Amino acid sequence: MSDPREVRIRATKPDVFAPLDQPARYKGAWGGRGSGKSHYFAQALVLECFSHFGTRAVCIREYQRTLQQSSKALVEATIRRLGLISSFRILHDRIETPGGGLIMFNGLRDHTAESIKSLEGCRRAWIEEAQTLTERSLKLLTPTIREPDAEIWASWNPRHRTDAIDKFLRGNPPESAIVVRANYSDNPWFPPGLEADRLYDEKNSGAHYRHVWEGDYMQVFEGAYFADDLAMADKDGRIGEVRADPNLASRAFWDIGGAGARADATAIWIVQFVTSEIRVLDYIELRGQKVGDVLAELRHRGWEKAICHLPHDGSNANNVTGKTYEDHIREAGFSTTVTRNAGAGAARRRIEAVRRLFPRCGST
Ligand SMILES: Nc1ncnc2c1ncn2[C@@H]1O[C@H](COP(=O)(O)OP(=O)(O)OP(=O)(O)O)[C@@H](O)[C@H]1O
Ligand SMILES: [Mg+2]
Repeated sequence: MSDPREVRIRATKPDVFAPLDQPARYKGAWGGRGSGKSHYFAQALVLECFSHFGTRAVCIREYQRTLQQSSKALVEATIRRLGLISSFRILHDRIETPGGGLIMFNGLRDHTAESIKSLEGCRRAWIEEAQTLTERSLKLLTPTIREPDAEIWASWNPRHRTDAIDKFLRGNPPESAIVVRANYSDNPWFPPGLEADRLYDEKNSGAHYRHVWEGDYMQVFEGAYFADDLAMADKDGRIGEVRADPNLASRAFWDIGGAGARADATAIWIVQFVTSEIRVLDYIELRGQKVGDVLAELRHRGWEKAICHLPHDGSNANNVTGKTYEDHIREAGFSTTVTRNAGAGAARRRIEAVRRLFPRCGST
């Protein structure tokens, strides 16, 4: 068994989290990327289980389809970092803690009023990525965590003022709640790789930077998501007349809409890659049209040789015809590729990927 004093010495945390070391029914840490929120709570959880025998705890997210999406790897790494591996027992889907306790990893989305009862008896519930927590999940969870000294912890990167966790712990927190804001500048161990990303974003984006790195709410809705990037392109003189290079492949990047009149539009960006430049040559947006009509428009504008890049739903088969969107486009003589489904969090990563590429868009 490890000496508790030694363990405390190995336990390190940014000062900003110090207020959270006091007992409180609700504790929250919100802020920008890489501020040490997850590490703080993982460590607090391990220390609590180590010092309070028989503690049952649960690490929760709204969605958790696989254990890889859970905090298990971080909790495990923290146990090792603190030199406590001989006191815990790491199992496939849970961790046994000293004195017959347990750390579980759960997705709230999959719980019902009935199944949530399995969490009764937990003294600690840590909600990670709490910005995605729904009102329903919060209401399901709070009465369940009911041991006399039970605590509910939340860490999150804020998105909207109206998200359930923001309304609760920032808008109208219970008097006893302790909530801190943490940013990268509070983290003495902020990794160099993230610092490079941060500096890049600081130079290239305004509202986005403040949201991702400083924990501000998102300022714009999806439609205006790239407003800053567009303004920057305009300022740099990267928006203007660009001609297609006939010797280079043209690529058509599709966002597939629906066929009904009120469905999302189908949008296509025509792009050529010219050395490190990304030249966006044309944009097509059609609402409520069948795939044949969209292809006709592509041909009409002279993009019949464009290589079509489809998102993952391009390979979904139609219930009636059994054909995929990709089949239709290929049969019409276009060459196509379909991007595979990149799973949870892909939408956010895609938005960020575009943002990184944006400074290369246009012709200089
Ligand atoms: N107590 C610590 N000891 C050593 N390194 C730490 C500690 N806390 C944080 N770090 C370092 O800082 C990095 C960012 O910490 P962490 O992932 O906890 O931040 P976060 O606020 O949860 O970030 P995100 O917003 O991306 O979820 C970690 O990957 C780790 O390298
Ligand atoms: Mg985190």
